[in-house]
Amino acid sequence: MDCKAFVDEQVAAISSAVGDGTAINALSGGVDSSLVTVLGHRALGERLRTVFVDNGLMREGEPEQVIDSFAALDIPVERIDAREAFLSALAGLTDPEEKRQAITDTFYAKVFGQLVRESGARFLLHGTILTDVEETVDGIKRQHNILSQLGIDPEKEYGYAVLEPLRTLRKDGVRQVCAHLGLPAEMTHRMPFPGPALATRIVGEVTAERLDTVRAATAIVEEELADTRAFQYMAVLLNDYATGIRNKRREFGQIIVVRCVESIDARTATVTELPWPTLHRVCERIVNEVKGVNRCLYDLTPKPPATIEYV
Ligand code: XMP
Repeated sequence: MDCKAFVDEQVAAISSAVGDGTAINALSGGVDSSLVTVLGHRALGERLRTVFVDNGLMREGEPEQVIDSFAALDIPVERIDAREAFLSALAGLTDPEEKRQAITDTFYAKVFGQLVRESGARFLLHGTILTDVEETVDGIKRQHNILSQLGIDPEKEYGYAVLEPLRTLRKDGVRQVCAHLGLPAEMTHRMPFPGPALATRIVGEVTAERLDTVRAATAIVEEELADTRAFQYMAVLLNDYATGIRNKRREFGQIIVVRCVESIDARTATVTELPWPTLHRVCERIVNEVKGVNRCLYDLTPKPPATIEYV
């Protein structure tokens, strides 16, 4: 792929579509939305408003990390504190689909939809890639019509437009363009992380306390398995308790699952054959450092039949 030509074309297309108007986009920190932010900023400069919606479901230090890495590129990113909105939408929910739906609704209908309307921007930049389009057509993904997800009827609110500069690329193409632009390696080679974030790694109700538990375990797993270069590695909090002994007392503790998989495109995955010493170290750290956890398991299930995430 001719990356330079791609960048020139997309920057020109964004400039000509937006004219002297303004645009808005939501940055999650993932490689797709990161590249869209960089291209949009090249085309529009300050006329692009980039927001990072802090849903409270992110990993340790993640909001700061994403915003700081863009500040280093001279791209300002506005943090929108929506933690309360997401937590209250998730309160009491245990069904996986209901949890996902609550997150989607809160993001589109409540938080980002409102921002788009208030901003007065007529253009929305979105990091849709070719695989998203194909999976929507195949019925694998929920429909990807961003305007309708935002509750915006283009006929009624004439003038809104979604620009999708990455529509012709797959993930490897996105990474190639990022590398061509000299973006930092932690952006270009970032491990996939789902939009609903840590909520996909909590079986049962998502509460502030349970988020703290899975967040602490995630930090340990990411630190210990960074050198494996596996496709994805994570910690999952189960919705159950197991008996244990601590300080000579019987206790019921929580259970963390460690998952580490190899994959090309996430459609199928195999389990990484981690060395025993690595598994032991992760387990030891999790049961000693994460409050309330007294058991740690390694998931041996490939995809299919399991999915990569738990929710
Ligand atoms: P599953 O769990 O379906 O995940 O095997 C496949 C890949 O997609 C990621 N994933 C998501 N990404 N929004 C996303 O942006 C989501 O709702 C979502 N669910 C799963 C997952 O991390 C894996 O890489």
